[in-house]
Amino acid sequence: MTFKTIIEPFRIHSVEPMHLTTPAQRKRAIQAAGYNLFNVRAQDVLIDLLTDSGTGAMSRDQWAAMQHGDESYAGSPSFEIFRDAVTDLFPFSHVIPTHQGRAAEKILFGALGGAGQIVPNNTHFDTTRANVEFTGATAVDLVIAEGRDPASRHPFKGNMDVAGLDQLLTEHKSVIPCVMLTITNNSGGGQPVSLANIRETSQVCRKHGVPLILDACRFAENAWFIHEREPGQGERAVRDIVREIASLADGMTMSAKKDPMGNIGGWLALNDDALAEQCRTLLILTEGFPTYGGLAGRDLEALAQGLKEAVDHDYLKYRIASTAYLGEALAESGIPVVQPIGGHAVYLDARALLSHIDPLQYPGQSLAVALYVMGGVRGCEIGTVMFGRQPDGTEIPAAMELVRLAIPRRTYTQSHIDYVIEVCQAVAAEAGSLRGYRISKEPKALRHFTAEFQPID
Ligand code: F0G
Repeated sequence: MTFKTIIEPFRIHSVEPMHLTTPAQRKRAIQAAGYNLFNVRAQDVLIDLLTDSGTGAMSRDQWAAMQHGDESYAGSPSFEIFRDAVTDLFPFSHVIPTHQGRAAEKILFGALGGAGQIVPNNTHFDTTRANVEFTGATAVDLVIAEGRDPASRHPFKGNMDVAGLDQLLTEHKSVIPCVMLTITNNSGGGQPVSLANIRETSQVCRKHGVPLILDACRFAENAWFIHEREPGQGERAVRDIVREIASLADGMTMSAKKDPMGNIGGWLALNDDALAEQCRTLLILTEGFPTYGGLAGRDLEALAQGLKEAVDHDYLKYRIASTAYLGEALAESGIPVVQPIGGHAVYLDARALLSHIDPLQYPGQSLAVALYVMGGVRGCEIGTVMFGRQPDGTEIPAAMELVRLAIPRRTYTQSHIDYVIEVCQAVAAEAGSLRGYRISKEPKALRHFTAEFQPID
């Protein structure tokens, strides 16, 4: 007999209190935070869906592995355990630990970037784009057209526009130091890239002699979608799909705060010996010695164990089904969400829900603030606040105005998610009364983290 309820494939081992607040308290808190949810104290949030990055629950076996951590400065056995767990899935020649994903990006583009260079990607995540642009290089997004349409139901909306990539490489190969491919495509809605598309992207890169580097934060979720959706892949183990993906690339950047189940960590992996040497030198400047790279030995051990758990089929089935549970419930209540539902998050389409708010008055910000004030749910704007400011200082509407509800791994139960559904429904019922915002203060780059807003009457 098969049962339809997808249960959490774990039980609770230690618990953390959550803090109940009233709407009046939250109104004061968000006003004091300059209407920026990143400025709100975590204890003033009830359900925190700001990010799935570093916010997941570690397993009993990960906590046990931490006790095994060896804190030797150089040559720690914990590094070997970590490196072996990484290369079991991603058999690259060099594995360079970093404290998180953006440190790997900073080092990679420190070596490869520079004025006049161009870096294509299906869609750059904000830190990736910022690290490319910081070196003076240009970041180009080349996702397929369906990937920019929130309503399109293409099963692999994270796919690279391979013809566009081929053309860009044909015209500008000499200034393209690498091609990036983000799996899953976070900024585009947590959408997967198909194995066929990864193969084609790899072929085009190899034809032009340009290395392909994966931004592989959510590799296991991407591989599960391949397993579920791609013809001919349903019988393969996720681990084997991941190894094939790695074989098609020349390296990777990784935030181990996502699929590897860490609260902190990352790495850069490469096949090119000379480039790896250059990156290790940069690593020593900011992160540390190459056998720990900004992490404690115990962190490396936790990640090694987390990687094993990340490709477990029971876990991935629950993970993807529980994200879809939230997204489908919202869609059924008429709330516009990016379709199909992504792996780590549900993306509300604020442009569709709040069509009366001009993109330059930040409908996504308005929706995110309303979810917080009404229900204590913290999401994250992924729209014009995040992407609108251009390197030349002008401001243009982003391709989409989304609010991301990211689901921390193994952290919230189904009743927490049922509550989130109710809060979203209550906010949607009052959507017409929500107003836009203007920015009263912003930094030069990555403004969404620290900008302050004022509501527009
Ligand atoms: N690449 C992608 C696709 C990401 O989603 C992130 C982080 C990074 C790189 C950078 O990694 O945070 O470890 O430095 N994404 C988080 C998020 C912050 O909320 O989506 P990091």
